[in-house]
Amino acid sequence: MYRTRTCGALRPADEGLQVRLAGWVQKVRRMGGMTFVDLRDRYGITQLAFNQEINEPVWEQANRLGREYVIQVTGTVRERSSKNMNIPTGEIELIVSSLNVLNEAITPPFTIEDETDGGDDIRMKYRYLDLRRNPVRANLELRHKMTIEVRSYLDKQGFLEVETPVLVNSTPEGARDFIVPSRMNPGQFYALPQSPQTLKQLLMVSGFDRYFQIVKCFRDEDLRADRQPEFTQIDCEMSFVEQEDVLELFEGMSKHLFKAIRGVEIKEPFIRMSWHDAMKYYGSDKPDLRFDMKFVELADIMQGHGFPVFDEARYIGGICAKGAAVYTRKQLDALTDFVKRPQIGAKGMVYARVEADGSVKSSVDKFYTQDTLQKMGEAFGAEPGDLILILSGDDVTKTRKQLCELRLEMGGQLGLRDKNKFVCLWVVDFPLFEWSEEDRRYYAMHHPFTSPKPEDIPLLDSDPGAVRANAYDMVINGVEVGGGSIRIHDSALQNKMFQLLGFTEEEAQAQFGFLMNAFKFGAPPHGGLAYGLDRWVSLFAGLDSIRDCIAFPKNNSGRDVMLDAPTFVAQAQLDELKLKIEN
Ligand code: AMO
Repeated sequence: MYRTRTCGALRPADEGLQVRLAGWVQKVRRMGGMTFVDLRDRYGITQLAFNQEINEPVWEQANRLGREYVIQVTGTVRERSSKNMNIPTGEIELIVSSLNVLNEAITPPFTIEDETDGGDDIRMKYRYLDLRRNPVRANLELRHKMTIEVRSYLDKQGFLEVETPVLVNSTPEGARDFIVPSRMNPGQFYALPQSPQTLKQLLMVSGFDRYFQIVKCFRDEDLRADRQPEFTQIDCEMSFVEQEDVLELFEGMSKHLFKAIRGVEIKEPFIRMSWHDAMKYYGSDKPDLRFDMKFVELADIMQGHGFPVFDEARYIGGICAKGAAVYTRKQLDALTDFVKRPQIGAKGMVYARVEADGSVKSSVDKFYTQDTLQKMGEAFGAEPGDLILILSGDDVTKTRKQLCELRLEMGGQLGLRDKNKFVCLWVVDFPLFEWSEEDRRYYAMHHPFTSPKPEDIPLLDSDPGAVRANAYDMVINGVEVGGGSIRIHDSALQNKMFQLLGFTEEEAQAQFGFLMNAFKFGAPPHGGLAYGLDRWVSLFAGLDSIRDCIAFPKNNSGRDVMLDAPTFVAQAQLDELKLKIEN
């Protein structure tokens, strides 16, 4: 009587058991009269042993196996003489009595092992083979576990999962839309949702006071390691809540996920930081707080001493890297080159070391007295052995961003960005609007449905740039893992928002009339947030790119190289849609 088992299940206690296993051939080792095969399935690897003396026909069959053949075997579990303690099944092997080849396989384009010889492109082209590898599969398992936890947590909190359509109208979240032509309505297009924002707000009007959905969102934007054109949100909305209620509930859910998925207990409340402070002290609305290195502004101390670069700057700021005074000239030059890269754009970098005797030696010593340099060191709380790095510039925001890049680089170089350490915070009090110098107009910092802080409403007309929003982002280790806001639920205020954002009344009515009308039928106060599921999973799995936790991701040009999408379509299809392609 053979029992069916998986390749990861057998242990020494199973010795003597007769089992049936099925899976893929990972490796064949022929050693004279013995042949060993590593058989792999989703659960692990079991070594199969074939002995010429005991069973010559099966041993011969085994010798003809190739990598990735799909086979089924039966045999008896035996304790191994030479054990491999690196894998859970390393103490046993299966003495095979029968072998059935279920399917042959051509040689795969890369080795299907944890450490593969396949580069990124080839693995993406053959993603279905890449997914056979343990590390990639483990990421998808983690993702599965995460969605199960989210569903069960939100269900317990009374949230209802409601699906919303994918063929919709533009849902402005700041990116370009992906659009889909409608055959039945020639010349008209659907837009794929950048998020279900307006739909979830309508569900609040319908009385579904606690909604969530694990949902695909689509954004046509430049791709980066943490951005895909289609990604997944854990999208939530609640009625009759204020900002504090939303933060409390989702902080609770985040802590639950840390415990359930990573076994990390976070007892203390998440840090709260205003957007203003995040920009001032870290040059970013998603500061990585795993390490300190807060910006110190130096204009008061460093201006007026005859150093033209600083004297002419509108912003001078620096960071203090603890213990980094040992940096050599070469390392400092490399840092200068780093900040001068076109993507960062600084013109140069000034540095100062605090020597063992407490004196400060800088790259601009000739302009400053030791007294001034000491004052500068004190502003950082610098101690002997520390290294101070300073940037300056005409544009405050840009220079802060450059200093942010330098801070992150130094954090990385000094080993302060440990993937197993997690620091969570809420960034709050975002400005409602963002001014675009290029377009000479305001844009919504989050989306146009975000409510202003009640006390700032009078500023809407006089000083829109100073209005703060009831908006919040959750940031972990420098990654924006979620964001949301309390919404406008009053059609007059919503109208005013559209006006301030440059919509004419007709445009606003045409694009968002459905929402403003709905608000006239008794809309409850409401608010919510959306988490980026892909970013959460990558964070928990310690990945550098969200691509690695997506079964079939797109590359940086938005292509699925496995499916070879997007593609050209047949003329007949274009004709049917009444579309013409210009060459
Ligand atoms: P937002 O645009 O901030 O808010 O998106 C919410 C979260 O989704 C994730 N995210 C992405 N992940 C991968 N690839 C992308 N291209 C991408 N874009 C965003 C981020 C982000 O924090 N409707 C609002 C939410 C709300 O107000 O309730 C929204 O979509 O983790």
